[in-house]
Amino acid sequence: MTPDAFLADFHAVARIGATPAGGVDRQAATPADRETREWFAAFAARRGWETRVDGIGNQFALVELVPGAPYVLLGSHLDSQPLGGRFDGAYGVIAALHAAERIAARVSGADAPADGPVYNLAVVNWFNEEGGRFAPSIMGSSVFAGIKDEAAMLDVRDLEGTSVREALSAIGYLGADERPAIAAYAEIHIEQGRLLERDGLPIGAVDRSWYTQKLDIEVLGEQSHTGATAMADRHDALLGAAQVITRVHEVTELFPPETLVSSVGQLTLEPNSPIVVARRVRLVADLRADDAAVVLEARDRLLRDIAEIADAYGLTITARDFDVRDNQHYPESGLALAEEAAAHLGLGARRIRTMAGHDSVAMNRIAPTVMLFIPSVDGVSHCEREYTSDADMVAGVEMLAEVGWRLVHG
Ligand code: GLV
Ligand code: MN
Ligand code: MN
Ligand code: MN
Repeated sequence: MTPDAFLADFHAVARIGATPAGGVDRQAATPADRETREWFAAFAARRGWETRVDGIGNQFALVELVPGAPYVLLGSHLDSQPLGGRFDGAYGVIAALHAAERIAARVSGADAPADGPVYNLAVVNWFNEEGGRFAPSIMGSSVFAGIKDEAAMLDVRDLEGTSVREALSAIGYLGADERPAIAAYAEIHIEQGRLLERDGLPIGAVDRSWYTQKLDIEVLGEQSHTGATAMADRHDALLGAAQVITRVHEVTELFPPETLVSSVGQLTLEPNSPIVVARRVRLVADLRADDAAVVLEARDRLLRDIAEIADAYGLTITARDFDVRDNQHYPESGLALAEEAAAHLGLGARRIRTMAGHDSVAMNRIAPTVMLFIPSVDGVSHCEREYTSDADMVAGVEMLAEVGWRLVHG
């Protein structure tokens, strides 16, 4: 890999599903997602790497170094949020492809050490990390890790009623290939926060992930005429939902600032007409904290608030837990390896937590996992304004190549 070749590829992928304000819209199993997959397969084919697609649409490129050995897997995801940024996920996959190319060249290079690699190398593009179209997020890697059931995930439907199975078949990526056996996993991603930028450091070694969970909330009222119905007779599902949204925000104030973060990011209403009092609203709240007990306390408080709101407005409101992800610690051995690699390359690094979800959160349960961050300008993510400089991206590829090199040597 050369920096120019990496950057050319990064910017080429950013043109797939590009949005007018500089982002991308590549939700899982859409035509734009297919285009990035074809790009990934073509990259592998040009280097003679075999590609595979498993039963949940995860896409692998196998770089054979040691025939028959398990694989050190490098990767992330090429799908995006609606109106997402061009760095979230895609950076990690393109970095992994270029890092793999560099590792393979180094293994067969003239100055390769006498003790060769003990593991193979593979790159992965995980299916549906984002979960914007098909919930839950981190779907492909969770199935790979055995945390989620493949058949159940294939039956998940988007808001239009299309299933994961149908959507993957439609883009030609419902595979059946055998999954590679894994020795270790490494992922690089933009931070999506401000800590590296604040500290002026190019690399973060992720030491832990936050506890996260969603609440799928359904508010049922009574459909009626917005003009003709007496105010006292209204059972307005949207009015109840508005109260719920406010409480989801306010529950964070029970804790010190930034201890708990929460939002309602998705809302659907029926029948959605300006002249009809809504009969049904579905909304999804996302709660996250370092400490699981904080999220659970907030959740209990919200359930009490919801019962109060239902009572006050004459509504039926139900809430269901889903997409619950434990807070996790990444292994000390991987953190030490990352710190040694950064020092070797002369890159400043710090340990850092992730509040966002990543495929590595799933992989950390089944394989020694290293999760790396590079800086995000202004900490913005899940929006078109996401930005990381070319120099930071290139340093990250070098870092991942060094980490991958060390991992294939056992
Ligand atoms: C998805 O991007 C998440 O952070 O959970
Ligand atoms: Mn991501
Ligand atoms: Mn994301
Ligand atoms: Mn994520």
